[in-house]
Amino acid sequence: MTDIYAVIGNPIAHSRSPEIHARFAAQTGQDIDYRRLLAPLDGFAQTVAAFIAAGGKGANVTVPFKLEAFALATRLSARAQAAGAVNTLKFDGDTIFGDNTDGVGLVADIVCNAGVALAGRRILLLGAGGAARGVILPLLQQAPGELVIANRTAAKAVALAQQFAAEGPILARDFAAVAGSFDIVINATAASLSAALPPIAPSVFGRAGFAYDMMYMMHSKEPTVFMRFAAQHGARVRDGLGMLVEQAAESFLLWRGVRPATADVLAQLRA
Ligand code: ATR
Repeated sequence: MTDIYAVIGNPIAHSRSPEIHARFAAQTGQDIDYRRLLAPLDGFAQTVAAFIAAGGKGANVTVPFKLEAFALATRLSARAQAAGAVNTLKFDGDTIFGDNTDGVGLVADIVCNAGVALAGRRILLLGAGGAARGVILPLLQQAPGELVIANRTAAKAVALAQQFAAEGPILARDFAAVAGSFDIVINATAASLSAALPPIAPSVFGRAGFAYDMMYMMHSKEPTVFMRFAAQHGARVRDGLGMLVEQAAESFLLWRGVRPATADVLAQLRA
């Protein structure tokens, strides 16, 4: 019998996850059926319960339900616990296992696909919401020289730096107080969604620096505003489509025990 999986969100119509998982399944010879599932804004838990009752084996969770998925899980991975959010659920009897593959997906895309090492480097992380929080532990596990978090609401950056202080060299700064240049600048703010730019000085992009936007343009191949700004100031830029594919591969691994190769899938998505 074909095992059923889904991506649950609201909105969900434009999710590229079904396409990615269909390619993974074909490549690895796994027999799965992966669907889009629209949950009402006030009906995430009910949607999951109905999906489990219908035989669902696992799910990806996207905006705006990652915190609710965290609350719903009866068991959590260490990285989901650190992230405070869940993007992957696995159903097994009465157990709802919650994991978070966003951070390892980001690191895999930067290190393996873009070929940018993080060890010993100065990293600037823009934003202190759920997206930023989800990637801090995997970034620190790469042993950067320094990880600076900057956020519009400075207190949120300070709280995150305190939370993760034991895990590595992490500092919080106001946007205005971010000084010097960085090897890697990662945009984890929601600013790109509204075509806005986090207020950072162009000097943060070091010569031959690397800039990563966790967003990507869903309907075009255009770079995001952040990518355009970074490129204008000398950085090599990359969007978050590779992160999407890599987090999907990690979810697939959790569910099926095999990690698909991602390079061709990412190339096909971009084509
Ligand atoms: P997500 O889960 O996507 O991180 P979130 O928790 O709402 O969503 O957090 C959004 C992040 O983007 C926050 O860091 C937010 O800054 P504040 O904490 O000050 O609200 C940031 N953000 C959103 N719009 C922004 C903008 N126009 N400029 C700079 N930062 C912005």
